[in-house]
Amino acid sequence: MTNKQIKTMKNHLSERIKTVPESFIRRILKVSNQPDVISFAGGLPNADLFPIQAIQQACVKVLENNGKQALQYASSEGDIGLREWIAERYQTVQGLSISPENILITNGSQQALDLLGKVLLNTADPIAIENPGYLGAIQAFSLYRPTMHSVSVDENGMNIDELAQLVKAKKPKLIYTVPNFQNPTGISYSQQNRQAVAEIVAPSNALLIQDDPYGELRFSGKAKTNFMSLLPEQTIMLGSFSKIITPSFRLGWIVAPTNLIKPLVIAKQAADLHTNYFSQQIILQYLNDNPVDEHIAKIIQFYGKQKQAMMSAITEYFPKDVHIATSEGGMFLWATLPENKSAMTLFDKAIQEKVAFVPGKPFYVGEKETIPENTLRLSYVTMSEAKIKTGIKTLSDCIKKM
Ligand SMILES: Cc1ncc(COP(=O)(O)O)c(C=O)c1O
Repeated sequence: MTNKQIKTMKNHLSERIKTVPESFIRRILKVSNQPDVISFAGGLPNADLFPIQAIQQACVKVLENNGKQALQYASSEGDIGLREWIAERYQTVQGLSISPENILITNGSQQALDLLGKVLLNTADPIAIENPGYLGAIQAFSLYRPTMHSVSVDENGMNIDELAQLVKAKKPKLIYTVPNFQNPTGISYSQQNRQAVAEIVAPSNALLIQDDPYGELRFSGKAKTNFMSLLPEQTIMLGSFSKIITPSFRLGWIVAPTNLIKPLVIAKQAADLHTNYFSQQIILQYLNDNPVDEHIAKIIQFYGKQKQAMMSAITEYFPKDVHIATSEGGMFLWATLPENKSAMTLFDKAIQEKVAFVPGKPFYVGEKETIPENTLRLSYVTMSEAKIKTGIKTLSDCIKKM
């Protein structure tokens, strides 16, 4: 690029985009994706579990039976058959009665976050976000330049005192939560914690977003009550096919009240007219022809074993002063090193030994000096049990040498 181009581009960028940081994880993934690296860094599902053959059959069937329609423009709300399937799933799995009219199909749940930001947030509007929280949500909301407040999460869920104080003092418009097997920590909100959160939010005007891409991936323990049951008038639910079937189709959804669905549809039309209709048709065909519960059970069994392998290796090798947050499902474990040890320094050492993970720092919002340096996220789903053992042993050696 010429100097003129560089200068012009810099001057032309909106204030909005200038304030959004580049995803730190993408930078890390560049180094950790080398074939000889044992990577606990990615947030990707295990590709060995993609139902390739069944998707191939569904694809052929869609083209043979309904090719003209499947390749045509389609409705912004999303395919009605797919929305009906999602509504029925909420009924059978969670006992929730949801109308397909209240479901909007999005380009992954990532787009749901962007559309909610677009439709609900003005500059400086107060919002509350988990600390640590999902980086993609922080990035998506940042583009609308809200004032972000954080509420700490631990193994029980949200810090109730912090939330109560925040709701009272800052009156957040939105409260963003991932109550099941949270990204990055793998923790879930306890039943009691959910009830306490709902009691605090109920008298306020805040909307609570329950983002739930991992909820069906439970290895142990019992499912907890959905916020939609506890706080029906204020809850917006997000869902996704990414972690239970495939992320490449970019299929997610929003469940929202009718008067919010309408502006969301307008924002969706402005963004992309509609979600890829071919992939909606293929996934619906796949869901109609295949027992998805069996497929999800297979993922749970596989990931459950990998998590067990990681926990066993951690118990065997990690120094005893490294804390691992209790997790009953999903894809991640969250480790806390002793306070004087930096996860960034550990990353530099570990990558030299060909082991990668994500340091916890980028998942936090708030003043720099309040952000802990000693946390890290470990994904267990993409490596074999043997590699998990080797990688954790290497990581422990690096921790011990620090
Ligand atoms: C908590 C959370 N929300 C949303 C997403 C985005 O998922 P999707 O593939 O549906 O856009 C992710 C992806 O990792 C996630 O962890």
